[in-house]
Amino acid sequence: MSDPDVVELAKRRGFFFQANEAYGGVAGFYTFGPRGAALKRNVEDAWRRQFVVREGHHEIESPTVVPEAVFEASGHLDTFDDMLVECPECGASHRADHLVEDASDVEDAESLPAADVEELLATCDVDCPTCRATLADEPVTGFNLMFETSIGPGSSRAGYLRPETAQGVLVEFPRLKEYARNQLPFGVAQVGSGYRNEISPRRSLLRVREFTLAELQQFTAPDGDGPGLEPVADQTVRLYPADAQEREGECVELTVREALREDVVANEWLAYYLGRARQWFERVGVDPERLRFRQHRSGELAHYASACWDAEARLHGDWVEIAGFAFRADHDLSKHDARSDERFTLFREYDEPKVVERPTVDPDMSHLGPEFGDVATDVADALESLVERDPTAFRSEDVTVEVDGETYAVPVEKTGFSVDEVTETGEHVTPHVVEPSIGIDRVVYGVLVHSLRRDEVGGEGRTRLALPTAVAPTVAGVFPLTDDQADRARELADRLTRRGIPATYDDSGSIGRRYRRQDEIGTPFCVTLDERTSDDERATVRERDSTAQVRVLVDDVPETLASLRTGETTFAAVSREYDDDCR
Ligand code: GLY
Repeated sequence: MSDPDVVELAKRRGFFFQANEAYGGVAGFYTFGPRGAALKRNVEDAWRRQFVVREGHHEIESPTVVPEAVFEASGHLDTFDDMLVECPECGASHRADHLVEDASDVEDAESLPAADVEELLATCDVDCPTCRATLADEPVTGFNLMFETSIGPGSSRAGYLRPETAQGVLVEFPRLKEYARNQLPFGVAQVGSGYRNEISPRRSLLRVREFTLAELQQFTAPDGDGPGLEPVADQTVRLYPADAQEREGECVELTVREALREDVVANEWLAYYLGRARQWFERVGVDPERLRFRQHRSGELAHYASACWDAEARLHGDWVEIAGFAFRADHDLSKHDARSDERFTLFREYDEPKVVERPTVDPDMSHLGPEFGDVATDVADALESLVERDPTAFRSEDVTVEVDGETYAVPVEKTGFSVDEVTETGEHVTPHVVEPSIGIDRVVYGVLVHSLRRDEVGGEGRTRLALPTAVAPTVAGVFPLTDDQADRARELADRLTRRGIPATYDDSGSIGRRYRRQDEIGTPFCVTLDERTSDDERATVRERDSTAQVRVLVDDVPETLASLRTGETTFAAVSREYDDDCR
């Protein structure tokens, strides 16, 4: 089944649809309908259960509007660009790298320099997809993907809608480390909206301008131990390493333990989270046979990453990124440390105090004042910062520093340079960050694609969403087969919802039609009360995928469905229990 089948079902059954259609809609914005919002929330809750609760991490919620200084420091302002080409005839904007990929064998044009993409537009004779005018001689420019806004009246304070939730965690590190009692490793997670002003949104939920990210920043000691690998050591992961991509080779299937031993994945924390994610994806309904982890080649790494693996799902013939697992090292914390007034390091005590040589300066202001006037204090600060960075600079007769682009030379004897012996009890370390980052909307889309089935029941075709019970929008449809059972069925549906089990009562149409309606929205169980119920106090519980049925005591239905939902029991186990009971 194709993208259009999923999009059609999504719209008809209330999973998602283009937003603001009453006013023509704007590409890249979607509204999740009643079913989609419930599915999405369940996927987020499943993420929270695994990546926050089970791992013992902290969750925070930071603002979506962020002042410019944060993205200046993080590098997003300068480098978070896509390649733009504009049509000279109709003015339409396009992703130049995507046009080149569509017109040639180039698979990853994003990693090429803009000049190469410009040349490929010409050599491949690329036309504007909107009006067919040639784009052959058009320039390719960088287009920053962040939505800009101004904070408060006037335009004096620039802000941006966050393109990732990550900075909201990273910029709060000085406080977060206190909550973690200054002990590494610790993890801080966040789920929420992100915004990217995509040049050409496309393929439904796969490239949108507002989306939900579920991210975890795992802070680790640069030279520290990895995680305990036991929960994932034997988990198999399908990996597509960078070298295999370069020689157009195949994926390898390895356990997490083997991937580390064979150095396919170099970082234990990354390997751990690939294993955890592989388990989690399956739980929420991504087909493991259509899932792989692809290593980024050096040219495609984001500006903040030193290594990255993407989780990719096979969707209608293409491999599509649904999550990224980046090793950000100390990129962000060092940048925030250098630019802000806070310290983005952690003090780590030595086992034993150490005596070390420490170079210091004590600038002679009676020389610097008359010599440099207004900038004398800045020159003194620059000397202090230089001695920390590069004490060897104080070996020459004159020491040179830069202040606001001007160079100042200070005779070394006026800097008060000396090397003293001091006893240190510890050191400041900048933690490394490993970041599993999950695109919730893409996962939801992938789950819908992988769950959609067409089959036959009793000679009739049916459409069914084989969603896992843990994420299905509705867990049970409750039907009375006769009018006599209507009140009782309503009461059962009410008992289920009171227990927090999403259930829906339906008495309209034939029983077959009621089943079909629930099958199509992925409801895993239907409970029918019929004329026998008054005699035996049992209801028929029918499982969606197998259509198998078992008669369960009406009073037991809420408990049974609750256990099926959490995975504490299976339908096969329930069937065995009740079949024995009936004998
Ligand atoms: N933080 C991951 C990303 O921006 O894609």
